[in-house]
Amino acid sequence: MYYIIRIWILPAFVCSVHASGQLCSEDNVQTVGRVVFGEARGEPREGQIAVAYSIVNRIKHEGYPNSLTAVVNQTTETGGYQYHTLDLESHTQAWNEAKVEQTLEYNNTIEASRDVLCVGVKDPTTCATDFCALDPCPATASNPWWTTINKIKIGNHYFVCRVPD
Ligand SMILES: *[C@@H]1O[C@H](CO)[C@@H](O)[C@H](O)[C@H]1NC(C)=O
Ligand SMILES: *[C@@H]1O[C@H](CO)[C@@H](O)[C@H](O)[C@H]1NC(C)=O
Repeated sequence: MYYIIRIWILPAFVCSVHASGQLCSEDNVQTVGRVVFGEARGEPREGQIAVAYSIVNRIKHEGYPNSLTAVVNQTTETGGYQYHTLDLESHTQAWNEAKVEQTLEYNNTIEASRDVLCVGVKDPTTCATDFCALDPCPATASNPWWTTINKIKIGNHYFVCRVPD
């Protein structure tokens, strides 16, 4: 009985969210681009798309804030950003320089961001909200508050979808 209920509930609230054009704005492309640059600028295109989708998927997920700005600005209990490279001045500086110089890394991260927010390319993770460069890792593990499903490795990152318990 329990499992039957779960299987029915799952797709309805976590999976198959396509980025709607509503998220497509130059500000949002830049905001998500900065996160992708910080988290995944050395990653293959698919891994960059997946990081951008983690933001979109959080917006639609009941366990995370409901707007793009609030998701990107969400902090942890210890006060840092959930997307930790936003805390790091060195990453902000690298981003600002790459943007001025229009480097290939900058162009690629912006393209990944735009493809997710504006073009609606397919989510390679189907529903991932969280990722980690290690496995196992607390962010990608199940715990009393959520179960993680659909673990997939793309480049150097492990992506998972969180299902609230
Ligand atoms: C975070 O929130 C502040 C306002 O409190 C806003 O100015 C800023 O743009 C937000 N950051 C991001 C990355 O959206
Ligand atoms: C990045 O894109 C800009 C604008 O399209 C272009 O002018 C620039 O040459 C690109 N940079 C690289 C390294 O390809």
